[in-house]
Amino acid sequence: MNQTIRPYLSRLEDLFSFSPVDAQTVVARFQEDMRRSLDGRASSLQMLPSYVGRPTGAEQGCFLALDLGGTNLRVLAVRLDGRGKAEITAVNRLAVPESVMRGSGEALFDFLAEGVAVFLEEHRLDRKQHRDLAFTFSFPVAQSAVNAGVLLNWTKGFTAAGVAGQNVVALFSDALRRKRIEEVSVTALVNDTVGTLAAKSYADPSCDMGVILGTGTNACYPEKNGRSAQGRFPQSRQEMILNLEWGNFDKLDANACDQALDRITLNPGRQRMEKMVSGMYIGELVRMILLDMTDRGILLEERHKPVLAGEQSVSSEHMSLTARGKDLFAAIGIPDASDRDRDAAARVCRIVSRRSARIVGAALAAVVAWMDASLEQKHTIAIDGALFEKYPGYPENMRSVLEELFARRADRISLCPTSDGSGIGAAIIAAVASSGREQDPAASRKQTRKNR
Ligand code: BGC
Repeated sequence: MNQTIRPYLSRLEDLFSFSPVDAQTVVARFQEDMRRSLDGRASSLQMLPSYVGRPTGAEQGCFLALDLGGTNLRVLAVRLDGRGKAEITAVNRLAVPESVMRGSGEALFDFLAEGVAVFLEEHRLDRKQHRDLAFTFSFPVAQSAVNAGVLLNWTKGFTAAGVAGQNVVALFSDALRRKRIEEVSVTALVNDTVGTLAAKSYADPSCDMGVILGTGTNACYPEKNGRSAQGRFPQSRQEMILNLEWGNFDKLDANACDQALDRITLNPGRQRMEKMVSGMYIGELVRMILLDMTDRGILLEERHKPVLAGEQSVSSEHMSLTARGKDLFAAIGIPDASDRDRDAAARVCRIVSRRSARIVGAALAAVVAWMDASLEQKHTIAIDGALFEKYPGYPENMRSVLEELFARRADRISLCPTSDGSGIGAAIIAAVASSGREQDPAASRKQTRKNR
């Protein structure tokens, strides 16, 4: 590596360092924000009630699930056998076009309802049979019941107009009726983290945290009743899963690259942790750094700039290629980069992804220690998302922070890849909800009238 690249990269290394001391500071700040939120004071963490506790494993039945959380929509049929086993019996996947993500709310919900209509038809489901549907809607929602909740704000590049401030279950149910789908009722509204926790804890009672590390990032955990959370959820239950919305945590030290990225996003000032961690943003951080290096004349050539100037031209999938020894530049349309350039890009990816994983490790440690300060019990953390599952070295970087913070007790924390929280997990939540206790009374009344 030549003389000019070397000092640049070591400065970058400093800028993106996240030391063991930083991790300790973050744990303290994170727990302080958890406390503030539960006490009803201003906080960057939302701690949103889900109106359900963890499943027992005995939940059973057949459910539909609709999963909207990023650029793909999935419609699924799920069967739960009541003995901790669950299977997906049918699934359709479709891409959500950008025009739908950023158009009108009505068009977005019509798109979802159309997805259900096509699913019912393609899989020849009996249109006379009543079906409960779990709606995985992975955005910050203030729920007032397991089947009702108001979107607080969009994240992950969605901006569909007229949805923030509205009950998304009502908007979706209206769209189903517009499509004449009368037999489907939305019985549960589920965040993907909650679905992930449910999917794992259905068969493993030691699971007490759900984490998403994909396009966006977030986590949930079961909060014990009576410990705090004054007035935040009905006192009659033993525990309630709280959705932290940790992507919005804003007590991390953001560097100049983070500030520059935040400025070009659709939601500046918000989701600050998500912008340092998640798949949707870390590729952008890398792209901006590589472009800066090219601008300074220490990487690539002038003619390569247009590729790097295009927003989203580098993704976290591209970054993970470098960890497998592949060429990032070839993958983004620059086939003639030198070995020196490739090595520099691989190092930039390592610097950015390592910080991402270490921040997640610290946030995760904060939540585990919140539940069990001296780590007396075993904790299984259900984790879904490509960063964790497909980025070589990412889980190890998360673990290194747990070991720095908890030493040998870190062994008590297992990080478990868990897929299909937003399908199977959501169906489990629908089954938990079908006891009827958690339903929004207004929505249930409507349903009872309709079923008569
Ligand atoms: C959303 C969360 C979601 C996470 C992972 C974030 O942008 O605000 O609700 O759980 O992405 O999908």
